[in-house]
Amino acid sequence: MDFGYFLLFLAVTACTLKVSLQGKHQRRLYRDLMTDYNALERPVFNDSQSLTVHFGFSLMQIMDVDEKNQVLTTNIWLQLYWNDYYLQWNTSEYPGVTNVRFPDHLIWKPDILLYNSADERFDATFHTNILVNSSGSCSYLPPGIFKSTCYIDVRWFPFDVQRCDLKFGSWTYGGWSLDLKMLEADITGYIANGEWDLVEVPGRKSERFYDCCEEPYPDVTFTVVMRRRTLYYGLNLLIPCVLISTLALLVFLLPADSGEKISLGITVLLSLTVFMLLVAEIMPATSDSVPLIAEYFATTMVIVGLSVIATVLVLQYHHHDPDGGKMPKWTRVILLNWCAWFLRMKRPGEERVRSACHNKGPRSSLTSMDLNASTSASQSTNGNILYVGIRGLESIHYSPAAISPDSGIHCGRLVGRAGEDEMLLSTGQSSSMGSVEPELAKILDEVRYIAKRFRDHDNDESVCNEWKFAASVIDRLCLMAFSLFTILCTIGILMSAPNFVEAISKDFFT
Ligand SMILES: *[C@@H]1O[C@H](CO)[C@@H](O)[C@H](O)[C@H]1NC(C)=O
Ligand SMILES: *[C@@H]1O[C@H](CO)[C@@H](O)[C@H](O)[C@H]1NC(C)=O
Ligand SMILES: *[C@@H]1O[C@H](CO)[C@@H](O)[C@H](O)[C@H]1NC(C)=O
Repeated sequence: MDFGYFLLFLAVTACTLKVSLQGKHQRRLYRDLMTDYNALERPVFNDSQSLTVHFGFSLMQIMDVDEKNQVLTTNIWLQLYWNDYYLQWNTSEYPGVTNVRFPDHLIWKPDILLYNSADERFDATFHTNILVNSSGSCSYLPPGIFKSTCYIDVRWFPFDVQRCDLKFGSWTYGGWSLDLKMLEADITGYIANGEWDLVEVPGRKSERFYDCCEEPYPDVTFTVVMRRRTLYYGLNLLIPCVLISTLALLVFLLPADSGEKISLGITVLLSLTVFMLLVAEIMPATSDSVPLIAEYFATTMVIVGLSVIATVLVLQYHHHDPDGGKMPKWTRVILLNWCAWFLRMKRPGEERVRSACHNKGPRSSLTSMDLNASTSASQSTNGNILYVGIRGLESIHYSPAAISPDSGIHCGRLVGRAGEDEMLLSTGQSSSMGSVEPELAKILDEVRYIAKRFRDHDNDESVCNEWKFAASVIDRLCLMAFSLFTILCTIGILMSAPNFVEAISKDFFT
C-alpha cells in the first residue's frame, strides 16, 4: 500500500515538474523572442528581398445575396501563411515548446484586406491569434462575415448564374516587398444554401500597376460562381403567372350576356400587377437590363390588356342597337363569311329554322289545317271566312305554345305568309265590296297593324342576331389568336434563358 502511494506521489510530482518546466521554457522563449522585436519591421533577413505570403480562404457559407443593394454576404475563413525570420528558435534549447501563439498586434502581419468590401468597418475579420512554430512559420486564420460589392446581373432572373469577385491584396505593400501566392479555395466545409447552388470558386493572381510607381501590386481574386435555385420562384411566381395568363383566355369563352367579361379581364390584370410588384420589390431599381420574369409579366399584361380591349369591342357588337343600322358590307363579308368559314362556325338560328321547316311541328300543321278550314269555309259565306281567318291568326299568336321559340312560329309565318296574309287581305277587300260592316274593316286594320309590328320585330331580331353572331365570331377569333400568342410568348421568353433546361432539370426533377 505504501509503495502504491509512493508511486502515485512520484507520478504527480513528475507531472507538476513537467508542466512547470514547460511553463518556464515558454516564458523564457516569449521573453527571448520579444526582446528587440519590432512589430513594424518587415521580418526578412535581407531587406531587399520580398516576403512571400501564401493566401487562400475556405468558404463556409453564402449568407445572403442582396440583389437590390448589390451586396454579397459570405462567411469566410481567410488563410495566411508566411515566414517570420525573427521568430525562430532551437527546439532543444526550449524543450517541449513546439509552437507559440501571439495576439495579432504584437508581431508583424501582412495588411491584407478585401478590396471590394461593403462593410461598415471595411475590415470585417475577427483578429485571432497567430500561430508560430519553431522554424518561424506563421499561420493566421482570421474568420469573418464579409460583405462585398458584387454586380448582380438580374437579366435572366430567376434562371440566373451570378459571379461575384472577392479581391484580396495588401493595402500598402507593393509586390517587391510583399509577394502573394495563391492557394486554392477550400470548400470542404461549405454549408449548402437554400437559394443558391455553389458551382465553383476559381481563383487567380493578378498584378496591377499604378501611375505612382513601377512596382507591381499583386492581388488574389476569387470568384464565387453560384446558380440560383429556381424551384421557389417557379412555384411562387412563374406557375401563378402562367395560370393567370391562361385564365385571361377564358374571357373569350365567357358568354357576353353574363356581363362578367370585362370584370374577369380586369381582375386578371390586377392580379398580374400584384405579382409584378412582388418581383419589383426584390429587383434592383436598374434600367441596365430588364429581368426575364419582368419581361414575361409585362408581355402577359399587354396580352391581357389587349384582351380587355377586344372584349369591349365584342360587347359593343353583341349589344348593338338594332336602330343603329345594319352591318357595313365589308365587315359582314369579312366577319360573317370569311372568318366564320375559317373558324367553322354556323349561325345559331340558321340550322334550326331550316330543319324545323322541313319537318313541320304540330303548330304549323294546325295553321295549315285552319287555313284549309278557312278555304273550305269560303264556299259558304263571306263573313264566316273572315271570322275563321282571324280566329286562326289569333290562335297562332295568342296560344302559349306559340310564344316559345321552338314551336316553329317563324317557320309557320315564313311558309304561311304568302298564302295566309294575301288571302286574308283579298277576302277582306272582296268582302268590303259587299255588305260588310265597318267594324270588320276596323278589325282588318288592326290585324294589318299587328302583322306589321311582328314583321318589324322579326326584322329587328334578325339584325340583332347578325350583330350577335359577329360578336361571337370575334370572340372565337380572339380566343385562337390570343391562345397562340400566349403560348408563343411563354415558351419564347422563358426558354430564352441560357440555363433554363439545366435549372428545370436540376430543381424541379430531382
Ligand atoms: C540582399 O539581396 C540582394 C539581392 O537579392 C543582394 O544583392 C544582397 O547582396 C543581399 N544582401 C545580403 C546582406 O545578403
Ligand atoms: C540546437 O541546440 C543544441 C543544443 O544547444 C545544439 O547542439 C544544436 O546544434 C542547435 N541546433 C541549431 C540548428 O542551432
Ligand atoms: C512549421 O510549419 C510549417 C508550415 O506549416 C512546416 O512546413 C514546418 O515543418 C513546421 N516546422 C516545424 C519545426 O514543425
